[in-house]
Amino acid sequence: MQRVFSGIQPSGELHLGNYLGAVRNWVRMQDDHDCFFCIVDYHAITQDYEIDKLRSRTLDMAASLLAAGIDPGRAVVFVQSHIPEHTELAWVFTTVTPIGELERMTQFKDKARRQESVLAGLLNYPVLQAADVLLYKADMVPVGEDQVQHIELMREIARKWNIRYREGFFPEPQPAVTDARRIIGLDGQAKMSKSLGNTIGIQDDSEGIWQRLRPAVTDPARVKRSDPGTPDLCNIYSLHRHFSAPDTVDEVATKCRTAAWGCLDCKRILGDNVATTFAPIRERANQLRANPEQVLDVLHEGATRARAVAQDTMQQVRELMGLMPEERTVRRDK
Ligand code: TRP
Repeated sequence: MQRVFSGIQPSGELHLGNYLGAVRNWVRMQDDHDCFFCIVDYHAITQDYEIDKLRSRTLDMAASLLAAGIDPGRAVVFVQSHIPEHTELAWVFTTVTPIGELERMTQFKDKARRQESVLAGLLNYPVLQAADVLLYKADMVPVGEDQVQHIELMREIARKWNIRYREGFFPEPQPAVTDARRIIGLDGQAKMSKSLGNTIGIQDDSEGIWQRLRPAVTDPARVKRSDPGTPDLCNIYSLHRHFSAPDTVDEVATKCRTAAWGCLDCKRILGDNVATTFAPIRERANQLRANPEQVLDVLHEGATRARAVAQDTMQQVRELMGLMPEERTVRRDK
């Protein structure tokens, strides 16, 4: 079986963007892959974050993942900082990673632009990401399209390390991008993200979903109710494709082009379908929130399984790199 690794930041509950862009795909992959899913808290601290919320957001993200269908019987689910080998391998990888490559990363440039002082952790973010995946020698990384550049750098890091220390030791992982390539936020502009507030949370009920959808941006050329719209220019239409049945999607397109429906009509149907998809997830997530020990048990079990692999890889890495093992007596016979 091919090994899959992916990570998600502990932003609290899942939202529509990371559900469509990544997690839905993770759930499918569990059937026929050896999966590791990691809540990447050490990545989360590379930007401003609320110290007193990180813990609960990590736990909520774990509950969300399980509620969305990640099955701890088939996948290893764990928290990054529980396995110190992630940061250890990241350090090793900084020694084969050119700074120029890191400075070139689109995500780094975007985030750095918004900062007064750019910290080394932000620059090294993709190095830690490479360590996450390569520690488990994973072959495939299901991610949103915005992460493909990081996976390409990861492949280069693996190549460089292999050339210096051991040919073929680390695989060069492949990105697996979903059909939901890029989910635009409800503002019709930026990528969906919780911090931008342009998304729908997986825990939102019908009313909450409607509050989000009602003001959402549609085809900008459709100003009046009687203006015919262009579905392909409308973000709401693209969401229909992920949540509505094919014949509904067709109907939406026709009724939009002919102005038979207004944008609100179209959003109502989308809202109902999103609510139907999310309702069982929300229910399971609520059950899990009421039983946090259950989630903590899953994370403990996950860390135990991840640690076994991680320690084995790091042991080999240290050996191949010529680092001295800890021994009580110096062996002179070797
Ligand atoms: N950078 C990823 C994101 O923002 C999260 C992440 C961290 C990740 N480590 C990973 C994704 C390893 C895949 C594999 O979405």
